[in-house]
Amino acid sequence: MRIVLVGPPGAGKGTQAQYLAKNLSIPHISTGDLFRANISQGTPLGKQAQEYMNAGRLVPDEVTVGMAEDRLSQPDAQHGFLLDGFPRNIGQAEALTSFLSEKGLTLDAVLDLEVPEEEVVKRIAGRRLCRKDGAHVFHVEYNPPRTEGVCDICGGELYQRDDDTEEAVRVRLDEYHTKTEPIIDYYKAQDLVVTISALGGVQEVTERAMNALGRTE
Ligand code: AP5
Ligand code: ZN
Repeated sequence: MRIVLVGPPGAGKGTQAQYLAKNLSIPHISTGDLFRANISQGTPLGKQAQEYMNAGRLVPDEVTVGMAEDRLSQPDAQHGFLLDGFPRNIGQAEALTSFLSEKGLTLDAVLDLEVPEEEVVKRIAGRRLCRKDGAHVFHVEYNPPRTEGVCDICGGELYQRDDDTEEAVRVRLDEYHTKTEPIIDYYKAQDLVVTISALGGVQEVTERAMNALGRTE
């Protein structure tokens, strides 16, 4: 399956993507994780992205689209993928459509995670990420690691993201409403959107998502 995951910052895209990708046997591709890996490795791409990310603004399409297409061209993505955080504006959505159509492919679904703004703020404030693998996500209250500050999955150190400040979160929400939400209408016109509530426990949301995608666990 070729799936795009959309939702505001803190909706639980990364959290759900981990389980959905495993259940559906497709790779989880997060442009946010790719940027953070480039930043921690000090690559030129990471240097270009860092300033935008810390401010909560979208990284320019000239940088983002090439990075996403490179990742989508790798062997493990040829039989499906779960895209998390890409596309994030109409330009990126159009770029993805032409990238896929050149290969005679289309998306199967766009899963839209709906969550009220108060909940997003609480989820982001308590989020902790693993330094070794950014896909390992915890929450100090809702999904605490067994040992404080240590990743349950790989033993890596847990940290708080640089863009999880109140100011950057406000900008990220604003960017989401003005630039990302329009892609939902773009995909509705192609009859691809399934919207689910992202409220409730992590497992409950995964089950809801699998049902919405027409697959049970
Ligand atoms: P990105 O990394 O994509 O961040 P985001 O969209 O802001 O989303 P988040 O990672 O904040 O949230 P999430 O929905 O994944 O939630 P999570 O699962 O962690 O992008 C960061 C930046 O990179 C952007 O601002 C931009 O600068 C740049 N960027 C990335 N892609 C780009 C693109 N395509 N174009 C341009 N720029 C781009 O969950 C949040 C917390 O809630 C966690 O602590 C989790 O444990 C907890 N939680 C999750 N589910 C539940 C639940 N059901 N109940 C209780 N708690 C829960
Ligand atoms: Zn880890």
